[in-house]
Amino acid sequence: MDYATILTSVTGRAGLIQLNRPQQLNALNVTVMEEVATALEAFDQDERIGCIVITGNQRAFAAGADIKEMADATAVEMLLRDNIKRWDRIRQIKKPIIAAVSGYCLGGGCELAMTCDLIIASESAQFGQPEVNIGVMPGAGGTQRLTRAIGKSKAMEMVLTGRSMGAREAEQAGLVARVVPVEAYLDEALKLANEIASRPPIAVRLAKEAVNKAFETPLSDGLDYERRLFYFLFATDDQKEGMRAFVEKRPAEWHGR
Ligand code: HXC
Repeated sequence: MDYATILTSVTGRAGLIQLNRPQQLNALNVTVMEEVATALEAFDQDERIGCIVITGNQRAFAAGADIKEMADATAVEMLLRDNIKRWDRIRQIKKPIIAAVSGYCLGGGCELAMTCDLIIASESAQFGQPEVNIGVMPGAGGTQRLTRAIGKSKAMEMVLTGRSMGAREAEQAGLVARVVPVEAYLDEALKLANEIASRPPIAVRLAKEAVNKAFETPLSDGLDYERRLFYFLFATDDQKEGMRAFVEKRPAEWHGR
């Protein structure tokens, strides 16, 4: 499919979505978010794909929602357009999504990265929620996801001052899984995506669901939920194959059934 603001490709079993508005530092306008959601849904439906990577370019993952697009909007227009509803489609994606981040990852860009399941950062990545500097606040999950990722004090400091945080600090704070040199961050993300894609897909899918549940429920409900999914996996061929292969000391062959 042809998109106007993103590029898509496939590397092995990883689907890649690259934000492609370099002149605007990949500012997320309505078209970008519509296309990202549509491309994610297409990869989610494609049996050849086991994991999805979203990236930008070396200078910018994304410098936020498109300020020019919303500068003159009234509150009622914002409410009726409800552009942020597109973001809910990302939460419905069943396959793991990796954000491969380099350069500016600000505002809605940081929120998009945090909506993904994990973040691989280049050494030049800068994360921040600078909305307060333009008279607003995060609106697509920043106050919630950043707080859960790095804790209240650090999140407050960032959201209230708009200061951004470098890759190393983000790694120490638990926002990113791994920091790699700028030349290597995308290859590293695609390698990780293919590693995940080589695992049994139903176990991967339910494990993602269970980890995400940790953000939605009290511990006892989350533990019950996890246990039910764990027992359910014993209904899959891949569980039988995986455990038999272990016992027989041979590599397992996954069928996604
Ligand atoms: C629209 C943007 C943009 C944005 C950059 N550009 N960020 N356009 N929306 N968020 C455009 C600039 O206008 C400029 O276009 C071009 O990209 C290059 O940007 P410069 O500012 O010239 O680059 P530089 O001097 O290197 O500064 C980089 C920067 C700065 C520090 C990242 O661009 C910046 O502060 N951007 C805004 C960051 C921000 O406030 N993000 C939060 C947005 S609100 P022209 O045509 O002038 O050359 C938000 C709310 C989310 O995200 C709510 C839920 C969706």
